Order: sequence, then structure tokens, then C-alpha cells
Amino acid sequence: MITMRTAPLFAILGLLACSSTPDGTASTSASSGPLDGAKLFQMQCTLCHGRDGKLGLSGAKDLTVSALTREQMLLLVSNGKGAMMPYKSVMRPEEIEAVVDHVRSLRATP
Ligand code: HEC
Repeated sequence: MITMRTAPLFAILGLLACSSTPDGTASTSASSGPLDGAKLFQMQCTLCHGRDGKLGLSGAKDLTVSALTREQMLLLVSNGKGAMMPYKSVMRPEEIEAVVDHVRSLRATP
């Protein structure tokens, strides 16, 4: 089950890594170890959203003022929207949950 997903996972991580993960922390998405939403966010999302979620590059929204519910965020991150890719091909469902929980912690009004 895990091996099936590993190849496309690293292909995509590799693409993302070219521009902004100098420390090459691709191993975060490996099946072992605790889920660190903040670290996943830094690997996958800061390209467009910035570390604090406010960057808004290439039409990305300021995540700190997002009015979406947790459920809506899970769907949006899983399926992608506009310039944002579908992360269900990159992260496992529990990783998407961890990253969404981190996004929600960035908001001024939880
Ligand atoms: C390639 C740039 C890019 C990356 C990388 C990216 N996003 Fe986005 N994100 C966008 C864009 C563009 C939108 C606006 C989509 C739209 O509404 O058309 C968006 C919107 C969102 C929204 C909805 C905000 C709202 O209130 O409408 C959430 C939540 C979000 N992104 C979370 C994430 C998370 C979590 C990650 C990392 C797993 C991530 N994004 C990575 C570009 C990106």
C-alpha cells in the first residue's frame, strides 16, 4: 500500500523541492515518524502561501483570514483549486489533516 504511492510522491516532492526546500526534508512524508503539520506546511505550502500563510503568491489566498471550515479546507487541499494542485496525490489523508490543522492555527480567529 505504501510502496504504491511512494514513486509519484517523490516525483512531485522533487518538483516542489527545486524552488524552496533547501534542507531537502522530503522524508517528512515517509510513513514513519509523527505527523508534523507545521513542517508539512513549510514543505508543501509556503511556496505560495508563505510561512505565516499570508504571502498569497500566484493568486493564493491569505490563509489567516480564510472563512473556510475545516471540512472545506480538507476538500480544497485534497482536490486542489485554481493554481493549487490536488494534494491527495502527494500526501496521505492524515497528513492533509495535520497540515489543515496547522493552517487553522495560523488564523487570527480560529
Ligand atoms: C502553487 C501555489 C500553491 C501552493 C503550493 C499551495 N497553494 Fe493553497 N492556494 C493557492 C491558490 C492559487 C489558492 C486560491 C484558489 C482559488 O480560490 O482559486 C489557494 C487557496 C488555498 C486555500 C483556501 C483559502 C480560502 O479561504 O479560499 C487553502 C486552505 C489553501 N490554499 C491551503 C494550502 C495548503 C494547506 C497547501 C499545502 C499543502 C497549499 N495551499 C499549497 C495556491 C497554492
